[in-house]
Amino acid sequence: MAVTQPNRKNRIILFILAVVLVGLALYFYTSYFEFKLPKGEHAKLQKIPILVLAALLGYLLVRLLNAAIFDLIFRLRRGYEAPTLARNVFTLLVFALVFVILFRTFYEEYDLGALFTTSAIFGVIIGLALQDTLGNFFAGISLHADRPFQVGDVIVVGQHTGVVEGIAWRAIKIRTFQNHIILISNSNAAREAIEVCPRDNLNARLVFFGTLYSDSPAKTIHVVREAVRDADNVSDKITPIVRIRNFGDSSIDWEVKYWLEDYARYNDTDALVRQRVWYALRRSGLSFAFPTRTLYVERPTRTRAVTAEDEIADRLSAVEIFAPLSTDELHQLATATVGHVFAPGETLIRAGDEGSSMFVVHNGRVAVQVPDRAGPRTVATLTEGNFFGEMALFTGEPRTANVVAVDETEVLEIGHTAMKHLFDTNPGLAESISWTIAERQADLAKGSAAAQSSITETAGILSSIKRFFGLR
Ligand code: CMP
Repeated sequence: MAVTQPNRKNRIILFILAVVLVGLALYFYTSYFEFKLPKGEHAKLQKIPILVLAALLGYLLVRLLNAAIFDLIFRLRRGYEAPTLARNVFTLLVFALVFVILFRTFYEEYDLGALFTTSAIFGVIIGLALQDTLGNFFAGISLHADRPFQVGDVIVVGQHTGVVEGIAWRAIKIRTFQNHIILISNSNAAREAIEVCPRDNLNARLVFFGTLYSDSPAKTIHVVREAVRDADNVSDKITPIVRIRNFGDSSIDWEVKYWLEDYARYNDTDALVRQRVWYALRRSGLSFAFPTRTLYVERPTRTRAVTAEDEIADRLSAVEIFAPLSTDELHQLATATVGHVFAPGETLIRAGDEGSSMFVVHNGRVAVQVPDRAGPRTVATLTEGNFFGEMALFTGEPRTANVVAVDETEVLEIGHTAMKHLFDTNPGLAESISWTIAERQADLAKGSAAAQSSITETAGILSSIKRFFGLR
């Protein structure tokens, strides 16, 4: 700013001086001839300097008009630089107009139209010689008319990416991210597909990474999203999206999509985002994947999907209805369970389905929901150690509610056969289960007129369990 200010001041002073000088010269020259104007053929020649001086003055005034329109309107009012091509075309047209007016004033006897017509052949020759230049010029004009991008936007043309610095007669000037200047001729640009990332638009970027198959997707999404949304230049207007792109050979392939405040700095921001992802994964115990080959050695013993048998037996011992079971029975039950993992939002049980197993929540949370006019109504949220799905299992009736995972949830599934064996050795078990079922049926009936009629007494439930399992 300190350097440009005196320059501009000098230019304005010089400009005013030039206008004054040319004006004075014109004034003195014309007033000299008014007193002793030469006669005959010579008069035509002596008018030439007047025409030149008047044209010069006209040119200077056109420049002044140009500065007033483009600097005042574009730079000061709209806040961006006027396109060079528009300025130049404007100057040229107005200057040509001034020249024609002056010529017709001073040399009425000459027909300018005829002059242009006779020069048509000359024009064709010039046109052929300037074919490329004119091509660029007209392509430049059409680019301006379309206004597909502006100075400051990032564009991708062919293999070149950079920030637009100017659009001129011949070419578009872009500055690449290596700080090089590239000139793309207007006619080439008009032929190519141009990708425009406007300055005042929220442009998005994608950054890719891969995690191990053993890492939880729900956790990865949460951890990476929170790490990325804080990064500098990542817009807070749209939350970053973290999603699985592919199941690769040795990794879950991810992409994180985020929106930038200043797209011209995307290289730095991509790098920062990758760095944030690295630290976030490290802190959360998640791992980047690397090429691996897994050898599965088949063993005769049964492999368990989720956790070790002891841990499952511990979990089952904390379940209220299994309290009467001995340690041996808990271990037997543990071996008969199968573990499953569900993502947040996944449905574990659907109302109305047939069901021949019950579940214990091992980790996470599920919501028990019944359909309502205003959408699903949550009647209970069950956490670690709670069980569900027992109603259909023990009564043989269809599922009474939807059960949906709230968080990433691990459940242990217990089937009909495992329970039958326990009923044989624990006669009290059926009774405590029938109490729970009766309570839950009462809960479900609240607010549902249809369900009111199907409330069954505990005794009724107990006898239906006994019947269903063939107990005495
Ligand atoms: P089931 O009917 O097999 O499938 C849906 C399950 O939701 C049901 O068994 C119960 O385990 C569970 N459920 C229904 N109502 C409630 C409730 N009020 N509180 C807790 N769990 C419930």
